[in-house]
Formats: sequence, C-alpha cells, structure tokens
Amino acid sequence: MITSALPDEAARPFAEPHPDRSARTTTSLLPGKGWWRDAVIYQVYVRSFSDSNGDGIGDLAGVRERLPYLKRLGVDGVWLNPFYVSPQHDHGYDIADHCAVDPVYGDLEDFARLVDECRLLGLKLVVDTVPNHCSSRHPWFQQALAAAPGSPERARFHFADGRGEAGELPPNNWRAMFGGPAWTRVVEADGNPGQWYLHMFTTEQPDFNWRNPAIAEEFERILRFWLDQGVDGFRIDVAAGLFKHPLLPDSADPEADERTRDSVNPLAWNQPEVHQVWRAWRAICEQYTARDGRDRLLVGEASVPTPAQQAEYVRPDELHQAFFFHLLHAPWDREHFQRVIDEAVRDITATGSTVTWVLNNHDQVRTVSRFAGTDPVAGPARAAAAALLMLALPGAAYIYQGEELGLPEVTDLPDELITDPIFHRTGSRTGIRDGCRIPMPWSGGHAPFGFSSDDAPARPWLPQPEHFAAHTAERVLADTGSFWHLYREALQLRRTMPQFGEHSIKWLDCGPDVLALTRGDGLVCAVNFGVGPAPAPVAGAPLIASGPCPPGVLPAATAAWWATATS
Ligand code: GLC
Repeated sequence: MITSALPDEAARPFAEPHPDRSARTTTSLLPGKGWWRDAVIYQVYVRSFSDSNGDGIGDLAGVRERLPYLKRLGVDGVWLNPFYVSPQHDHGYDIADHCAVDPVYGDLEDFARLVDECRLLGLKLVVDTVPNHCSSRHPWFQQALAAAPGSPERARFHFADGRGEAGELPPNNWRAMFGGPAWTRVVEADGNPGQWYLHMFTTEQPDFNWRNPAIAEEFERILRFWLDQGVDGFRIDVAAGLFKHPLLPDSADPEADERTRDSVNPLAWNQPEVHQVWRAWRAICEQYTARDGRDRLLVGEASVPTPAQQAEYVRPDELHQAFFFHLLHAPWDREHFQRVIDEAVRDITATGSTVTWVLNNHDQVRTVSRFAGTDPVAGPARAAAAALLMLALPGAAYIYQGEELGLPEVTDLPDELITDPIFHRTGSRTGIRDGCRIPMPWSGGHAPFGFSSDDAPARPWLPQPEHFAAHTAERVLADTGSFWHLYREALQLRRTMPQFGEHSIKWLDCGPDVLALTRGDGLVCAVNFGVGPAPAPVAGAPLIASGPCPPGVLPAATAAWWATATS
C-alpha cells in the first residue's frame, strides 16, 4: 500500500521554495552536466508576447519587460521564435539577414539588454535558427536569381531545369509542406521562363543546398555570432531537413508528403548526411563551453515518424535534445499516452539524452481546444491534467506562451485577417496556425488587454477575442485555482523534490481509465482519462492536483501527484 508523505515546503499551497533549494534555479537535479536535461523552457512567440512601442506587434523590449513574470512562474529559460530581419511571409521563418534584428522587433542593443536581464534573473536564453531555407529576399537568393544557370550563386540553392519539351514542368513531383508544388519557375535575365528552384515550405522560402560547403560555413558563422552575443542555445528549425536526396527523384506518394508531419517525404527529409551538421554544431558548442564552463543547448525540431528515428538525432555527439512531438498529436486516450511515453523514454534515454516533452507550440491547436473533442467543457480540465502529467515525466518540457493562462484556440478569425501562408496556399483552414498565435492578454477587460498600452496607435496584429478577458495574466494570478498556479506550483515541486532526479518511470496498474506512474521511490502521478471518478492510487491527500480531488478519489479528467513512502 502506498501512503502519502508530504515534504513540508510542498504541503503549503503555492509556497515559496525552501531557501537552500531555491538557489538551484537553473541547475539540473540529474546527475552529470547539462542544465537542459530537465529544464522547463517557456516558448515566446515574440510577435504576440508583449508590445513595448504601441505598433501592435510584440518586440524584444516587450519580452524584457515581462521577464519577471516568467521568473515568477518558475521556468528555467526562454526560447524566442525568430526575430531576425524578414519579410514575414512565414512570420520570421523566412530570414533575409540571420545576424540582425528585424526593426519591427528592435535591434541588437535590445537583444543585448535582454541577454543581460536573463543572466541577472538566472534564466537561460535560447534562440531559433532556421538552416533549411531562407527568405527569397536574402541577398544570396537575389544574387542567384540574377546569375546564370550553373553559376556558383545558384549552387547555394536547388535550381534545376524543368521537365517537358520546354522545361515547363517542375523537375520532380514533390509537394511543399504548406501546400502546392515544391518548385517555382524563375524568369531568366533574358526575360524568358527558365529554371526552377526548390522550396519545401512557401515560394518565399527557398531551400539551401547543403551539399554545397558554403552553406555549412555560413551557418557556423551565424552560430558563433549568436553565441558571442551570449545565447545559451539554439532551437533548430526543421532539423530533419537540410539535405535532399542527391538525385531529386519523384516521390512515390506526393500528396501524402503535404503537411503530414508524421509521414514526411523520405527523399527530402531525414537524409543520413544531416547528422554530420549536428556533429559540427555540437563541436562548436563544446568549444564555447570549454572556454567559459557554460553548457550550451541544441534542441532540434526533428519531425521524424518514430522515437527510434528521433533517437539518432540525439546521439552523444549530435543534438542535445529533440522535441518529442507525439503528445502534440495524441488523442485524449490512456493507452495512447502510455504507449508514446513508453516509447519515448525507452528510445531517447537509451542515447543518454532526455526526452523533451511538448504539449503546445506556435504550430499546433492549443490543448484546451484540442483535447475538448465534442465536449468543450472537458477541454480545460483535460489540458490541465495533461500539463501535470507532462511535468511529472523525466526529461525537459516546453511551455508555449498562454498555456499557463489556459488560453483556448481562436477559431473564428475572418478569412481576410488570416495571415498563415498555409491558408493562402491551400485555401483551407485545416492546420492554420493564427489561432494559437493571438497576442497575449495581460490585463484589463478589453482588447488589447495590456498587450500594447491602451493608448497605443495600432491594434494588435491579430484581434483578441473579448473572452480573453477571463484569461488575462492579471486574472489568473489572482485566482489560486487557475492554470497559472497549477504550473507554478508544479514547477516549484519539480525543482525541490529529489524524486525528479530519477530517470526512470514505472507504471502502476490502476484499471483501464487511469494512467499512473511512479518517479523514483517517492512520487506517484496519476491521470483519470475516463468519464467518471476512479479510486485514487494513493490514500492520502495529493501534493497537487489539476482540479478538486477529494481524498481517495481521482475525478474524471483530473491529474494529481502524491509524495509517497512504500511499505
Ligand atoms: C517549423 C516552424 C514553423 C515554420 C516552418 C518553416 O516547422 O515551427 O513555424 O513555418 O518550420 O520554417
């Protein structure tokens, strides 16, 4: 029988951490080096986080002003989505200058201030890097357009002659991830239609040709530039991309390759050569660590079908971590959760890395709406329970801005306000991402909810619905039963309880609806995926629960943690 044994500091609701332990702000509880191994990182979508200058768009100074809020929440660090010079066709994932800040977000001085402030607060700072493609306004691509077929300028990208009598058909049948063909034909200097170039996302995002050594050299320069600015790591966009099959052959099933991240085009992604890039980048990070003793992090968006394939990206000399996306697509189903958690822990930890859990990000429908299914009332309870489960798992976790406010997806934006290129390329709302990128509600009862000051000249770049009033940071901070306090308290417990230092989990058998696991010898986490109450796996009161949880009972759509002593 398991009985509850509450550590003193954890028993008090929302208690401040024990002074000795609170000093461990960004230090891993796990043995060995690497603050990132069990870190909880907060993802900031800069455009939608906080607008300091009233132009309706978030910026770096806005992020800096809000750092104390993140410190109070208790995260270990921040990941910033791209803020580099960009025409914003894909909101910064189309970069025209990798080593400069887009004026809409500030400048390098703002960035330096942000670095200093993060350092002061003990928060790690991770920035996005986008090596698979650039903007069609990037000087290299402009030079390639002006140069002749076969030139060194074109060799930095994938230019190829078309098929058909007059080259009027694309070089192969690949589809872009965001819809439509993956090739666009250019007009040559003589004014005639000419070669085609490859872009796996939008027309405005030409893919680099990584078989050209100039690309690797350029990215090593970019990496060093940001390391010299003081960043603690990089989130790597499309980390399974970069290399394409050298012969660019036709895909066997091009329609399946479009926007289906779980069945990516095997000719365009996950080519074996990509691993040499991650080895080189790891070596650069190690050089910096050898110089100043500070660990750097490479965390990849490596969307490959199985955890076993993902494990190849986090071998000891490659990326430190790769996002584990299977919970982003998981239905609200006990067996499904158990299976994917099992596979991830087994395959990823076998490499010596840790699993990097994520329930929400800037590309996915928010959990409050995603888990609702046909019952919108169930959404928030399930999202809170899933969060408590994620934070109980061994490894690192990423929280996407607004997750801690319990924000739902916004699904009723009028067509004319939708900015996502997926919508414009496909004409369909399926998979569009504006709804999870609505500017953050901070305070007050009406838009802009403190995102920009009330007398700001411009409206937020995407409209905030009036019902965001119920989710402002001001409101949730004042309500101790809110998502915010659940996250904060769970983060505090993670930091203070030695059980979180254990790598392994063991499953407890608690019937068909309840997923229950133990961490180490003294922590149980259980989630009730069913529709009715279930017996709690532990007799005493929980340390923390995602909803009202009477002793001995685990209500439907509720998760709880218990500190235990086994007898
Ligand atoms: C990644 C990003 C996404 C972006 C795409 C193209 O999947 O997360 O937001 O649109 O790459 O860069």
